[in-house]
Amino acid sequence: MDPLLAGASPHSRGVALIGSGSAQAAQVISNNQLGLRVDTSDEWIQSRTGISTRRVSSPDQRLSDLAADAGRSALAMAGWSPKSLDLVLLATSTPDDLFGTAPAVQAALGATNAVAFDLTAACSGFLFSLVTAAQFLRTGSMRRALVIGADQLSRFVDWDDRRSCVLFGDGAGAVAIEAADEDGLLGFLLRSDGSRGGVLNLPALDSNEVLAADARHRQGGYRPIEMNGQEVYKFAIREVPAVLQCLLERCAVGAESLDWLLLHQANQRILDAVADRFAIPRPKVLSNLAHYGNTSAATIPLVLDEAVRDGRVRSGHLLASSGFGAGLSWGAALFRWQGPA
Ligand code: ACO
Repeated sequence: MDPLLAGASPHSRGVALIGSGSAQAAQVISNNQLGLRVDTSDEWIQSRTGISTRRVSSPDQRLSDLAADAGRSALAMAGWSPKSLDLVLLATSTPDDLFGTAPAVQAALGATNAVAFDLTAACSGFLFSLVTAAQFLRTGSMRRALVIGADQLSRFVDWDDRRSCVLFGDGAGAVAIEAADEDGLLGFLLRSDGSRGGVLNLPALDSNEVLAADARHRQGGYRPIEMNGQEVYKFAIREVPAVLQCLLERCAVGAESLDWLLLHQANQRILDAVADRFAIPRPKVLSNLAHYGNTSAATIPLVLDEAVRDGRVRSGHLLASSGFGAGLSWGAALFRWQGPA
């Protein structure tokens, strides 16, 4: 059967988030280890970011390995067979293959009936992908989707630049979502502003090579991550509260009704500033920055999966989530977790 029609109900207008999974990169790198390479200290990094260790993939660990492991574990929690999937959507800025890595993940999972493609929106990628996948489910054209956020920024960090190398790590997280009559995705807002994009980039190489006698070309490749940390920080603490406020108002939900604040994990100071803006007590703010740093598109599903598995996030809980990062891109979503009780 055409996978776009398989099992789809024309009456499904909502989505349920019912399974999560995550996968870790092989190596743990401490602040002190970085201090042996660049002029930094555990004290500086912890006090400015909240990060104490991050995970970095080993050279033989591909992005598709991390993504497939996270996906498998989300499928197991949802109790789904891979063949029942209609969509595998991979949020990443660091594919194994620029032509797309989602099909390799689809094959590794055995999700033979699913269409698979990548979506790039840096640290907003998971949130943008969740919302994108939900549109297919809401129209009734698909029934089951696996949304994976996975990144290996370690491949593009300048490990000699102390201003950025202390921030990033690798990882993957995934969420299984299904068409449902009762809508678990209460609302969302997505934003982009390319005019401010110059503060955080992973830019293509500027090369100018001879192609033929009268022709030249630009050879592919990328420079390391370039970041104006202070501008990114200002952007985050201005735009994240604003987009969350707008979403909560549209959904007529007060911040006091939230069970959890689920933000992109970039810096503990950003999490604290957003929580304070809404008077959300710290225990309700999900954070695993200390152990992972910023894993870009992976942070939101990774920290969600940890909290689901240790029993903090339970079925029926209401979460406000916001992703933000390069592009510039940012957004928010309000959803109810409906995983196994
Ligand atoms: N160790 C020691 N000193 C450092 C380090 C370091 N790792 N990094 C910078 N410094 C120094 C600077 O050189 C500077 O020294 P100077 O005054 O002698 O010039 C001093 O510390 C202060 O630097 P600031 O940049 O002002 O430090 P700040 O308090 O702003 O913290 C940080 C920097 C942590 C990067 C912060 O700006 C931040 O978190 N910004 C957000 C970054 C972010 O989240 N990026 C990812 C976005 S998501 C995505 O899409 C990928």
